[in-house]
Amino acid sequence: MSEPVQTPLTKSAAFPTRIFSGIQPSGGLTLGNYLGALKRFVEKQDEGIETVYCLVDMHAITVWQDPVKLRHQTREAAAGFIAAGIDPTRSILFNQSQVTAHAELAWIFNCIARMGWMGRMTQWKDKTAGKDAEAASLGLFAYPALMAADILAYKATHVPVGEDQKQHLELCRDIAIKFNHDYKVNFFPVVEPVIEGAATRVMSLRDGTAKMSKSDPSDQSRINLTDDADTISKKIRKAKTDMDPLPDHVEGLKDRPEAKNLVNIYAALAGHTPAQVIADYAGAQFGTFKPALADLAVAKLEPITTEMNRLMKDPAEIDRILGAGAARADALARPVLEQVYDIVGMIRSRPM
Ligand code: AMP
Ligand code: TRP
Repeated sequence: MSEPVQTPLTKSAAFPTRIFSGIQPSGGLTLGNYLGALKRFVEKQDEGIETVYCLVDMHAITVWQDPVKLRHQTREAAAGFIAAGIDPTRSILFNQSQVTAHAELAWIFNCIARMGWMGRMTQWKDKTAGKDAEAASLGLFAYPALMAADILAYKATHVPVGEDQKQHLELCRDIAIKFNHDYKVNFFPVVEPVIEGAATRVMSLRDGTAKMSKSDPSDQSRINLTDDADTISKKIRKAKTDMDPLPDHVEGLKDRPEAKNLVNIYAALAGHTPAQVIADYAGAQFGTFKPALADLAVAKLEPITTEMNRLMKDPAEIDRILGAGAARADALARPVLEQVYDIVGMIRSRPM
């Protein structure tokens, strides 16, 4: 029997439930993106909630991107979403730059957010640590204001993300609250982060204390959604672990980051809790557990990879899907933006 791994969304009386989330097409999708975000995006769509999903190409260029690669990665991410179960007729799926309301609202939010708020963001601090912060792009600093605009252009109420995005969502709440307060309106919802399940923070396969990331220089540290079955299997079998067998309680994983990570990955892939996995594998050696995890990962990921590769053979069709999604997104965001311009006191008299 599976224990429930999801909690129902809290509802707001003033704002209808709408989900928004985004992923940067700044590299290929990883198992971290899949378990921390994508798999849960599909679950929300399948629950019948209104869902808007965005490939945030404008966030991606806050650090240099090769234009040819960026376009390829955006299509590949779109293919990954669809292969993982996003139905572009039920969810709205598009790339950010095709809906200009995001950039326009981000400017207004740049004027709401404070320098101090941005400077406290750990992602900003991490990305500039040990480097010359003066040389970072202004866009990288202002990144969370664009993220708030992504969400609030749709008055989205809930945002499924991995653990690493929690602080950015708090900043999105602060922006909504300050906007509502400064203009004496109840215009923007205060969004709820949805961070749930066993894999809100999937760690590197080489270091249980570092996040699995598309930007890690070591390809062995991550599973890419484009990896074939053999590669997935090898990476898991070679994943760093300690020498002890698996414990008989989840508490026994406390100071064992690599073991904990593999158990969490297993749980998230199987749709179980970590406690259920531990109940099944108490006392097992990694020589037993890793092959079981490799088989499970291949069984879950291989169909997605195969479908992704099939979709990538027709880039024009992917572009068509993104364009159609962008038109639907624009129809939602444009009226919100027009009201924002009105609230802040801008003249809107251009003949339509
Ligand atoms: P990014 O790839 O940074 O654009 O992240 C897109 C989404 O995937 C966000 O919701 C992240 O929180 C989530 N995500 C990225 N890496 C991980 C990870 N290692 N574990 C869990 N979630 C992740
Ligand atoms: N900052 C997010 C990340 O790197 C991506 C993102 C951009 C996002 N806009 C968003 C996530 C809006 C959720 C909602 O993971």
